[in-house]
This record gives sequence, structure tokens and C-alpha cells, in this order.
Amino acid sequence: MTPEEIPTWLLEDDPIRLEMLWRAADLTRHLYVGDEVHLRGLIEVSNVCQRSCAYCGIAACAPKVERYRMTQEDILECADKALEYGFGTVVMQAGEDPGITGEWMADTIKKIKDRTGLAITLSLGERNEEDLQAWQAAGADRYLLRFETTDEDLYRRIHPNLPGGASNRIQQLLRMRDIGFEIGTGVMVGIPGQTWQTLANDIYTFQNYDMDMIGIGPYIPSPGTPLEGPLGEMLMVEAGTQQVPSDPLTTLKALALTRLVCPETNIPSTTALATLDPSSGRANGLSRGANVIMPNLTQPKYRVLYQIYPGKAGLHETADITTAKIRAQIESLGRRVGQGPGTSPRISHRSEA
Ligand code: 5AD
Repeated sequence: MTPEEIPTWLLEDDPIRLEMLWRAADLTRHLYVGDEVHLRGLIEVSNVCQRSCAYCGIAACAPKVERYRMTQEDILECADKALEYGFGTVVMQAGEDPGITGEWMADTIKKIKDRTGLAITLSLGERNEEDLQAWQAAGADRYLLRFETTDEDLYRRIHPNLPGGASNRIQQLLRMRDIGFEIGTGVMVGIPGQTWQTLANDIYTFQNYDMDMIGIGPYIPSPGTPLEGPLGEMLMVEAGTQQVPSDPLTTLKALALTRLVCPETNIPSTTALATLDPSSGRANGLSRGANVIMPNLTQPKYRVLYQIYPGKAGLHETADITTAKIRAQIESLGRRVGQGPGTSPRISHRSEA
């Protein structure tokens, strides 16, 4: 698929052509990554954040957020659940929290590895080289860092600069790959200022950098954040008729196209999609290209405080309930729960090369 073809498909609204897109994505998923759905247990380690990304409900500037950081015991309790439920991976996610020190996280990673042997994914924001190396050496396997948009101007307007200027997340991802991580990235669909061409470029970029994991969810305005207010309005006015909507259908088109251009990558059916469409979001994602789900293992008392956007699916559920529901959904689609770490087949191809 050429970069010119992607926007045409994103704008497609003919039901027959869309049906072709869904079938092509589902068949590609079946042929390249199979029928297993890999479960990654999400542990929301801390909602403390020193950055102020304009869309995020737990940004440093977000109003009225009660902050928490899990203890190692809390984290290990979640990791034990992942093992008990038969998941292959745990994902530790947090804001950019300086209280999560390199040393403390390295120790946590070692403890999880020793106890469970599970694959470990980190999603802890932009961290320095020393921390990343220490965590990889301690046993972390993968790192998730969404680049959010390939439009550099838009990126700068919705992300605060680091002390040295704007950050370059693609460079950071490539550096993480060099360190030894499998790398995952992604974007939100429908952020104010995102045009059809920008979203097409994002999808093309996934392919270009051969990303191992790609998460795509709809943007859900978070009350009180700049992007939900005047900044968002201004960016949408600027984008005009080219503004991408943040709805389930557009998200599914982006997901399906991503599967077509990156056939072997791991793609989750995201919680944000399930939040916008509670009855069928998750299943639609799985039937239109996705092969991963990230059930939330965070204890309910913390879960309610980790609202990067409002009304997150499963907000008031226990891990037992969330997991049982997800298993039932997978089975009702005639798919099966994946065994083992669920590493993308592209990794083994790369090491054979
Ligand atoms: N709506 C949807 N997704 C969001 N994220 C952050 N804020 C929002 C929001 N308001 C996504 C970002 C981030 C990931 C952890 O969550 O893409 O990388």
C-alpha cells in the first residue's frame, strides 16, 4: 500500500468496500499472527506525572487528581494474578514519575521475573538511557512509547518540551530497540488538529520503522485538560474539514489498515475503543486486525485514580471480572487465548536474518 492509498481508505464510507477492508485485515491477521489472542496484564503502577501532555487526564497540570504510587507488594500481587490467569506478559504502565527510580524499577522487574518468569513490558514514558539499560538488564523485554503523531508541529503544541527542547519519540524508540527491547508505539485517532493525511502518515510510519507492537485507540476528551478546552477548539478550527473524528469506525479503519501494512505486528484491541463502544468495541477490534488484549489487573482502589480519559472500560471491576469477560469474548469469536509470551513472529524472523 502506498502512502497515497491510505487516506482514501480512511475516508471510505461505502459499506461494500469497508467490508472488503475488514475481511482483508482479518484474513491478514489470521495468516500472519494466527487465531490466538495474547493477553497482557496491565498494572497501573503510578499516576504521578511530571509532564503535562495536553490530552492526558493524569498530566501534571490535570486538576483534582489524587496521586498514588503502588508498593512493590501491590505490583507483585498483580503479577501473581497474571500468572494465575495464564497470561504470558505483564505491562507496567505509569506517568513519567521521578519517584519510580531506575534502581527501584530494576529491582521490581527482577522480582517479577524470578517469581513468575513472565514477559515484562514497560510503559513508563521517556526515560534516560541509564534507566532503560538497567531495566533491560534486569529482565524487561519490551517498551511501549506511543509517538502520538508524526506531525511535528502538532506534537509540539500538545506536548511540553523537555529541558533540551522537543523530544523525538521515534529516535527514542529506535534507541530502545538497540538496547534490546521489542518496541511498541501508537497513536490516538481524532486528536484535535489530526488531519486525514497526518493519520495516514502515522500508519505509514508504523510500517517504515517496522514496529513490533502498535496500539491505536480513539482520543477521548479528558475534562479540564487543555485539549478538551480552548487549545483543542483552536486546533480543530485550523484542521477544518480535514479534522479526523474520534469515533469507533475511524479507529477501526486505522486499525485494519495498520494490520495490512504491518502484517506480523502485535496489535491490541484497545481499552479506549471498548470505552467508546462498550457493547462491541473490543470484539470489533479483534475481528478487524487486532490479536492482543490488555486486561487491567490494577487493584480497584488504584484503578479509579488512573483515568487518563474518563469512564475507562472496567473502571469499577475487579481483575477477576475483567478477565472472565475478556475470555468469554475471545471464545465467542471462535478464537483462543494465546499461550506463552506472545512475541511477534517478526522478532524471530529478524533474528534469523
Ligand atoms: N484519550 C485517549 N487516549 C489517551 N491517551 C492519553 N490520554 C488519552 C485520552 N484523553 C493514550 C496516549 C498514551 C496512552 C498511554 O494513552 O496515546 O500514549
